[in-house]
Amino acid sequence: MNCQEPETDFAGFFGAQPEVETSAPGRVNLLGEHTDYNDGFVLPIAIPQRTQVELARSPDKWNRFRSTNLDVLIHYQAGGDFPSGFAAYVAGCFEVLREEMPDIMAPVNLLVRSNVPMGAGLSSSAALEVAVLRGLRKLFQLAVDDVDIALLAQQAEVRFAGVRCGIMDQMASSLADEQHMLFLDTRTLERRLLPFPEQSELVVLDSGVPRRLSSSAYNQRRAECEAAARELNVQTLRDINDVALAETLPEPLNRRARHVVSENRRVLDAVSGASAAEFGVLMNASHASLRDDYEVSIPELDCLVELLQHHPDIYGARLTGAGFGGACVALARTGQSGKVGDEVLAAYHAKGYHGSVLVSGPI
Ligand code: GLA
Repeated sequence: MNCQEPETDFAGFFGAQPEVETSAPGRVNLLGEHTDYNDGFVLPIAIPQRTQVELARSPDKWNRFRSTNLDVLIHYQAGGDFPSGFAAYVAGCFEVLREEMPDIMAPVNLLVRSNVPMGAGLSSSAALEVAVLRGLRKLFQLAVDDVDIALLAQQAEVRFAGVRCGIMDQMASSLADEQHMLFLDTRTLERRLLPFPEQSELVVLDSGVPRRLSSSAYNQRRAECEAAARELNVQTLRDINDVALAETLPEPLNRRARHVVSENRRVLDAVSGASAAEFGVLMNASHASLRDDYEVSIPELDCLVELLQHHPDIYGARLTGAGFGGACVALARTGQSGKVGDEVLAAYHAKGYHGSVLVSGPI
């Protein structure tokens, strides 16, 4: 029996079949946090959760954006009042393409559904942008490749959603898969797909605390990094290899720069053939740096990370994504991720918090 309400699918809602269907995954970042807007190195992997988009040409001058998850329908006309919420990302993607190809782009009816958790640091916004851009590419047969899609998605987010994000999330959603780590140099966009550390598998746990104050604090960290680079007379903090140089800066720029310089080093160490145990040590050091130097952790994330780090079947753990709430990522011994997730969450709940398992299992 089909239990779906007829009006929840595209045809039920818009009265015609979709012309194209696309999707894009969320991502979890294993190492290299807050390095991408400093031209540094990152190491994300795609997660099984995806955002799906169906679309067709609109019969009139209106774009209609429907979110099944939020149960809303937004009408948007190019050049008219700009929408907010999820539709800002969709309209932003539409606008960045329309600027480049005004003669090709025409209004669309679009339906989105997603199982990428929102506000957990797993790039639900990048998954939405990449899925929408893939859909528009297919519908209008646009000559844009996967890197173009990532760059357009980033533009949509920076210009229309107001977050001065780096390129990691969009590149991960557009180019990563679930079987490999994507090692990306965010300055050159050179990249390699690398095998996951042997004898290990992924655990991603949600702290249950949605990200708070994320865009203002995020933009502030970014501004601090730019100030640190100016003081050190370099283009970006990527150009600093020696942590000692960071120590010459005033508070808090010294600690912000120390995080970025040491985090870039950790990514490079991780991709130089690190074993699972060595990788875990790097993840633990990354969390300490994000907590103490970059100050983007919160007590709930520290608690969850600590419980993970003390579990005998865990190699290492850290917060993942921008911080200020959201999820933790950990590397578990092969075959143990399910058990670890259950045990750690039981201990976390005993402290009065409410988390959940987001990803667990072999790569
Ligand atoms: C968010 C941003 C990314 C990156 C991370 C932190 O996910 O969108 O560009 O800066 O935070 O590493």
